[in-house]
Amino acid sequence: MLAWGGSTLPAFASDSTALHEAYADDFLIGTIIPGGLDPQATFSDDPVELGVMTREFNALTAENCMKPMFMQPHEGEFFFKASDYCVDFAEANSMELVGHTLVWHAMTADWIFQGGEGQAASREQLIERMRTHIHTVMSRYKGRIKYWDVLNEAVVMQGEHRPAKLRPSPWLKIIGVDYIEMAFRFAHEADPEAKLYYNDYNMTKRPKVDFVLAMVQDLRAKGVPIHGVGLQGHWSLDWPSISEIEYTLQAFAEAGIPVSITELDISVLPVAESHSGADVEDNIEFAEKYNPYADSIPCAVLDAQATRYAEIFELFLKYREHIERVSFWGTSDVQSWKNEYPMKGRTDYPLLFDRSYQAKPAYDAIIQLPNNEG
Ligand code: XIL
Repeated sequence: MLAWGGSTLPAFASDSTALHEAYADDFLIGTIIPGGLDPQATFSDDPVELGVMTREFNALTAENCMKPMFMQPHEGEFFFKASDYCVDFAEANSMELVGHTLVWHAMTADWIFQGGEGQAASREQLIERMRTHIHTVMSRYKGRIKYWDVLNEAVVMQGEHRPAKLRPSPWLKIIGVDYIEMAFRFAHEADPEAKLYYNDYNMTKRPKVDFVLAMVQDLRAKGVPIHGVGLQGHWSLDWPSISEIEYTLQAFAEAGIPVSITELDISVLPVAESHSGADVEDNIEFAEKYNPYADSIPCAVLDAQATRYAEIFELFLKYREHIERVSFWGTSDVQSWKNEYPMKGRTDYPLLFDRSYQAKPAYDAIIQLPNNEG
């Protein structure tokens, strides 16, 4: 294992074009530093894994270690070892770093919402805690982290045919709707050069898209520094449709709001009827019928996935002037959170590299698209 903080890696020579090079005129191509759920564990030092990550991608998001519960597990006790490593690693490999995430209802330690004697924190207390968290974390990496997911998943659906609404999180309940603009204002104070994002899943479902678009336009009209919207992109072979994705891209393009695809993966497994979206707290009971490729995956399925990725990237290229970054939520299928989510114990194949870090048909399909566009 690598010691914390040191991240000098050998350059992996290759004559062929890397994925981010193929898209150099279009948008950044990102991946994650996987893991980080155990603050005591160091990250992988597997040269094959690190070689693919650093060769193919030019943007990096920490999968877990920069989430609030890891950055500040107890009030005033910040844990920077893992995040420092990620920042050093990104810089050592000329990758743009994305800070994920500052304000969220999930993966946030309970203390932040608590006051004394079993009471909830007061409004003033929670505002001050939000300010301290944002300032402490962002100031440490000022000028080194270009993009921040300031606010994650603040909007929920109320069904396909009803307007979406603000998530009734402790942030909303304790502070009120102003918490959203405060988060962005604090972040802008902490690093005025950073690009500040709102990030969410289900961003191809109309009620949610329309709500988020109106919310962001409203915030911008009030002078709130919010620079872009992240569409997570936890998708599957048959959902969402290309026209649903296009609706979103077009809506934000017309409004002049940049977007990034922040957490792309395309699951090949059957979607449990009861499930949609990417609420990290979902946990559906395992059933064999939802795990058809436990031992191996037919070529036909990988080809279908390649076609699907190609259609999606063709659309991204069409909107490339409005897209800043397309980041995958992982490099190899072996590390994907989709093996455990929303059902534990499955074998999924949502990413561009197989379990031995070999490029899959999906990789071959998308790397050639920019050339074809001329
Ligand atoms: C996921 C991680 O990949 C998992 O390791 C963790 O157990 C749960 O969180 N939306 C987000 C990401 O914004 O932070 C989530 O990451 C996936 C859904």
